[in-house]
Formats: sequence, structure tokens, C-alpha cells
Amino acid sequence: MNGHALKKSLQILTLLLFAGTLFSCRPRESLGNAAGEGLILGFSQIGAESAWRNCNTRSIQEAAEEKGVQLLFENAEQKQENQIKALRSFIVYQVDVIAFVPIVADGWDNILREAKEAGIPVLITDRKINTADNSLYAGFIGTDSFREGQEGARFLLRKFASADSVRIVEIQGTEGSSVAIGRAEGFREGLAGQDKFEIIHSVSGDFLRSKGYELMRGILRRYDGIDVVYSHNDGMTLGILDAIREVGLAPGKDIVIVTIDAEQAAIDALKRGEVNCVIECNPKMGPAIIELAEKLARGESIPPFQHVHEVVFSEYDDLSSIEPRGY
Ligand code: AHR
Repeated sequence: MNGHALKKSLQILTLLLFAGTLFSCRPRESLGNAAGEGLILGFSQIGAESAWRNCNTRSIQEAAEEKGVQLLFENAEQKQENQIKALRSFIVYQVDVIAFVPIVADGWDNILREAKEAGIPVLITDRKINTADNSLYAGFIGTDSFREGQEGARFLLRKFASADSVRIVEIQGTEGSSVAIGRAEGFREGLAGQDKFEIIHSVSGDFLRSKGYELMRGILRRYDGIDVVYSHNDGMTLGILDAIREVGLAPGKDIVIVTIDAEQAAIDALKRGEVNCVIECNPKMGPAIIELAEKLARGESIPPFQHVHEVVFSEYDDLSSIEPRGY
């Protein structure tokens, strides 16, 4: 064996030993105590695409630490295949409970079946999944994206009560994600039967500020007379505002802006009059997730569906007493 081959073999051996330490099966009986201490929770997060997402991650990590829950945290860097790998590694490790944020709604049945066969309860958080078999997971806690879309429509009905025609651009979130689907459907349902509203362009910006900016630049070159931008998250909205300012238009005045998440930056823009309506999507679900995980580890049942509390802030409200958002 030459020097290079020997080095390679040693590297592979080290990796195998490391993986063996990390993922060797531990006995299932080592569940946490009643307070949750000792409980092992495997959590697969989508990534770090927005300030909202980072707050969601912090909330889970802090709640786990507070309760003495051992958190195996995996960041999937926006790839479903990474999430599936992470879930499989949690099964091999025999964690007590698995929780994850499904990046898209489809494609989870096989891995959930593996978790079910291993006897590990799964909690779905933030976004929903599509499955014909709801017995594959224990419960869902997260945002009500359909209602968020309806709230956006409700604001526009009030804002444009006396207008004859309203031309809307929609920048959607990640394609195939339950939140992008819900926000699009709820919005359309809220405007149903109101023919003066027309969605002239709808495109996915993947929840990224950079894409919001790039897409909006192109849209402003292509269309005149845009009345509204409905953006599925604040990150994209911040990019959209930059693009609108660059062409000499005033966001919030020349173009009405409706956005979702309620990050501090969006609330500040609302206060400046550059955004008109901010629909909260609540990322601080860590304490509730840990509480549900503890129940599952104790073998208790949990509600199949739970939506987190969320509010709406708009130019029609008194904005003076909004607490710092923390994200
Ligand atoms: O799933 C929630 C969405 O994902 C938030 O609106 C967005 O900011 C995040 O990336």
C-alpha cells in the first residue's frame, strides 16, 4: 500500500469509528424521567434561510436546555434528502422522540414508516405533510398558513374597498412546502368572488431575501401599474422593498405591501409606512415542542393538530405598544 492509500484507509477507519460512537444503538429503556431530563430528542431543522428560522431554532434549543432534554439537532441545509438521512440516523440511534420541520409536504411516508416500525413517535412541527396515513406520526404543532393567507386578503378588502381594479404580484415561499401552498390558497379563498382583484404574477422566491430582490427587479421591468405585492415572508419582503426603492417608487405608498412573519425589520418598516400589513407567523414554539415530546416519551397521547397563537399588525392599528420581536 502506498502512502496515499494508507492515509485514505486511516481516514475511512477514523470516520467509521466516529460514526460507530455516534450512532451505535443505545438501549430503548433509557427514556427520560417525568421532568423530561434524560429524554433524547432528534430534531431535523430545514436550515437557516431566514431570521424567522433562526429564531425557531433558538427557541427549540433553549427550551430543550431548560428542561434538560438532550437534543440531537441536524440542519438539513434546505434539502429534503438531508432531512431523511437525519431522521434515519435518529432511528438508528433509537432516540426517544423525533421532531422535524418538513421542508416540503410530500415524500415522507417511507421514513415515517421506518420510525413507526422502530416504535419512535414523531412530532411534525411548523409545516404540515401530505400523507394518506395519519397514523405515521403522533401529532403536528405549527403555523396556520391558510389563515395567514386569508388575513392578507382581509386586509386588502379593507384597503381597496373603493377601488375598481387591483393588480397583485405574489412572491411565494418554497415550492411544495405546506406554508407556501396554504398562504397561496388562503389568500385566493379570501379574495374569491371579488373580481376587481387580479393576481397578475405569482412566482416562488424560496423564502430568500436575495431571491425576493432579484425577482422583484425583473417584475418591475416587466409590469406597470402594480398595486400590491403579497410576499410569503419578511425575508423576501426586505429584498422586494430594496428593488422598489431602486426604481424610485415608494413601497407602502405607490405599492401596497402585505407580508408574513412579523420579524422586527418588517415591523420597523410598517412603522415607517413602507409596509402596510404584517401577518405574524410565530416561530417561538420550542417550549410547546419540548412539552409534547415529553408527553410522547411518557407514552401519553397528544392532540393531532395544534396551531400556535398568531396575530396581525397593520397600518390601521396602534403600533406604539408592539413588544420587541426578538427575531
Ligand atoms: O415555515 C415558516 C416559514 O419558513 C416562515 O414564514 C419563513 O420565514 C421560513 O423560512
